[in-house]
Amino acid sequence: MNDRATPPSLENSAFFMPFSMNRHFKKAPRLLARAEGIHYFTPEGRKLIDGISGLWCVNAGHCREKIVRAVQKQVAELDFAPTFQMGHPLAFEFADKLASLAPADLKRIFFTNSGSESVDTALKLALAYHRARGEGHRVRLIGRERGYHGVNFGGTAVGGMVGNRKIFGALVAGVDHIRHTHDPEKNAFSRGQPKHGAELADDLERLCALHDPSTIAALIVEPVACSGGVLVPPVGYLERLRAICDRHGILLIFDEVITGWGRLGKTFGTQHFNVIPDLITTAKGITNGTVPMGAVFMREQLYQAFMTGPEKAIEMPHGYTYSSHPLACAAGLATMQVYEEEGLFTRAAELGSYWEEQAHALKGLPNVIDIRNIGLIAAIELAPRAGAPGARALDAHIKAFERGAYIRVAADIIALAPPLIIAKSDIDRLFDIVRDVLKTTD
Ligand SMILES: Cc1ncc(COP(=O)(O)O)c(C=O)c1O
Repeated sequence: MNDRATPPSLENSAFFMPFSMNRHFKKAPRLLARAEGIHYFTPEGRKLIDGISGLWCVNAGHCREKIVRAVQKQVAELDFAPTFQMGHPLAFEFADKLASLAPADLKRIFFTNSGSESVDTALKLALAYHRARGEGHRVRLIGRERGYHGVNFGGTAVGGMVGNRKIFGALVAGVDHIRHTHDPEKNAFSRGQPKHGAELADDLERLCALHDPSTIAALIVEPVACSGGVLVPPVGYLERLRAICDRHGILLIFDEVITGWGRLGKTFGTQHFNVIPDLITTAKGITNGTVPMGAVFMREQLYQAFMTGPEKAIEMPHGYTYSSHPLACAAGLATMQVYEEEGLFTRAAELGSYWEEQAHALKGLPNVIDIRNIGLIAAIELAPRAGAPGARALDAHIKAFERGAYIRVAADIIALAPPLIIAKSDIDRLFDIVRDVLKTTD
């Protein structure tokens, strides 16, 4: 007998699901049991197009043979090896591979296991760097409203999504935020980068005037604020942030956990926007989502600032048991091979205008108040229902699941970012489902 025929109720399951409506979900679960290419399959075998690359991470599509094989081989050969005062060859090989792909001189790599860990690592590196060069008075960290930098204390503190912050106390001292870049009155239905708003970068000058720039260690922003609703930076905005940071000796951190690994049509968003930060945080697509991993890329000057003390002293008292885990390194090396062999770093640029057309063709559907896009990312913002923010998009999410697409929603924003291997015909299918859903969601 097929014991999958009558799935057990999950209502009393022990699993406390992250970022989820536990009780609502467990009453009517949406389960994914298998995946292949751009599709998920439910336990009943129903096929879903993956509209968000798992969780913005499976850039090369699911269960890619080369990556699966590399992990299988690795787990049988070296399951774990520490990299505190010890090492294993793959960690060095993978760091060197990443360095060869890095923009400018961001070629020194610190491994973590997630985006959240990459962010907290980058913030600590920034503070320690200033101290190492005699500017220990630079203690403040600046984030941006509506930014998302993961869920650890540092990332939550510099993050700017109210719902993720408000119940966790005072977080980290010495953090402030510049304002976000979203201006629907001027920029609604922008295609690619909005025209208005470069001057919003000057908000950093306001904080410099308030705190004195000599107290500020770093500014962290996502080149495109994805989890906060796909807020694309206005033309000239990132350049202006860079100039202000340079003027005041502030380190600029780009959180590229989503915009890295081909999502915008170049290896990194940094290259797409042609603005070079001092540190880049990555994760997700670094292993195609197969094994948890993250990495912080830093400029040579930062790395060298740590390499000045006695040779027998630990330069950076920071790291994770699983930093550069052998399985993650094996997955990452195979992932980079797949990305390169299949031209996936530039695929979003090739598909970009088709993707943009299909996304903006949804304009005029009921409740659609904005559509935004860049690379292979799109957001469709819906008007919230009176007194029930988020309810309309949640309905759309559930309907899409029923009709064959997995899409992500945050508040009343639908976010789409499919695997980079998607074909044009599948882009059509994805948007057909979204169109159908929007037409029937009141
Ligand atoms: C920009 C950014 N930073 C950090 C994170 C946190 O990554 P993780 O969930 O792997 O900790 C995310 C996750 O979506 C992200 O989008």
